[in-house]
Amino acid sequence: MRWFRLCAALLATLTLASAQSPTGKWVARYSSDDEAREIVLALSVESGGGVTGYVLAPQYEDRIVEGTANGARVTFVAEREANNNTRRRSSYSAVLEGGKLKLTMPTSGNRPPQVFEFTRASAEAPAPLAPPPPRIALAAPSAVRDNGLARTPPMGWNSWNKFQGKVTDKVVREMADAMVKNGMKAAGYLYVNIDDTWELARDSQGNLGTNSKFPDMKALADYVHGKGLKLGIYSSPGPTTCAGYEASYQHEAQDARTFAQWGIDYLKYDWCSASRPYAPDSATMQAAYARMGEALLASGRPIVYSLCQYGMHDVGEWGAKVSGNLWRTTGDISDNWKSMSNIGFDLQPGREKFAAPGHWNDPDMLEIGNGGMTDMEYRTHMSLWCLLAAPLLAGNDLRDVKPAILEILTNKEAIAVDQDKLGKQGVRVAKNGDLEVWARPLADGGRAVGLFNRGEAAAKVTAKWGDIGVQGTHKVRDLWAHADRGKVKDEYTAEVPSHGVVMLRIAK
Ligand code: GLA
Repeated sequence: MRWFRLCAALLATLTLASAQSPTGKWVARYSSDDEAREIVLALSVESGGGVTGYVLAPQYEDRIVEGTANGARVTFVAEREANNNTRRRSSYSAVLEGGKLKLTMPTSGNRPPQVFEFTRASAEAPAPLAPPPPRIALAAPSAVRDNGLARTPPMGWNSWNKFQGKVTDKVVREMADAMVKNGMKAAGYLYVNIDDTWELARDSQGNLGTNSKFPDMKALADYVHGKGLKLGIYSSPGPTTCAGYEASYQHEAQDARTFAQWGIDYLKYDWCSASRPYAPDSATMQAAYARMGEALLASGRPIVYSLCQYGMHDVGEWGAKVSGNLWRTTGDISDNWKSMSNIGFDLQPGREKFAAPGHWNDPDMLEIGNGGMTDMEYRTHMSLWCLLAAPLLAGNDLRDVKPAILEILTNKEAIAVDQDKLGKQGVRVAKNGDLEVWARPLADGGRAVGLFNRGEAAAKVTAKWGDIGVQGTHKVRDLWAHADRGKVKDEYTAEVPSHGVVMLRIAK
């Protein structure tokens, strides 16, 4: 009897200890756009307090590389295969409270940290995660035919910067309505592009579905076309999109046909989870993009092809050869001066040789009007993107745009620079500390010029004709003041506000 009591007490102590220990398998369930999803967290706390295990989410596998447990609290760093043969590390923290484990997920950009509540699935120390299967290497593709589209940089709107996962059929229709009403369509904005989070798992025939936010994609395309606009969509060469939704891996031709049947006019194809099945070399990435390039051509519908792989493997060298019309050059833009100015001023020089009619460097979608920058900074954003011959995809809510923002987005003189038929990307021609002069040759033999001031106080900036490749006397027009500045010899000087721009067009 005494022996039995001792055993029972021991068992109770052990059960209590395991209930209080984070060791075990934990599951957090959530639903996202009609689909049940789960994140599995496996933790094993060692006697010295070290932690091993992993996190399995729909869009990634994170293996714990270091961690410590202190009673009910656990912190750990986990690593996953990222793009370009690199590994990405993320920091997590968890706390065990009332039998539930609350895990604070790593954040990126300006997003607030997300906390998931996990329920215990087992109290046993989990087995280590099997190593990932070997990644597939593909041979470099032969060139895919040019689709003949986007002879000037695409213009339109994209849902991601403002709406992320909250984009719906209704939002897209309202954006199309707004573009017609507010003068953006008249100014040249054409594509209405749905970014990530519209997708639903495939049916038994392998057809990609739409979730309940998009009940009828064909009807939506008809609506957008009825407004004289075009509809864009988003997918990935990997098994899931960046947000963890179904993507086009091993279904490229089928998805291209689906897009064509729906009446889609533009596809943004985002690498993301493709780094799991595919080897991290340039030939493989090119082949994966060529596959969709071919599939879009074979679909028989003209579909603008937008590559999104953050500029890896010198994409400018081969983007056009996989039938790409534009390719992202960097990671994601955020709605602040630091991000925008870094991407626009610092990360574009050197890429100008790849831009030509039909093929554009894409420094990412516009943040104009999203609230994180001043109107002057947004004017700089617009001017720089126009000088860069960048796609102009507005990223704000178009239903209620304040006049100052609309004026920036619809400045026809700036847009004429962006859409100039010569298709030459502008370059920085002079730099003096925070003051920069950029110039872009135009089809009429003139130049578009930006006098930029990245500093904290207003300053005078001078554009020397010699620096921008012209000589003598030229007519100067200010594209934001919409005013002629007369005939000017040798150089032009203007006072430029902090973080501001003076944008000019000069002609013989
Ligand atoms: C990546 C892209 C973004 C956006 C998101 C959607 O981060 O670079 O532009 O498409 O994915 O998940």
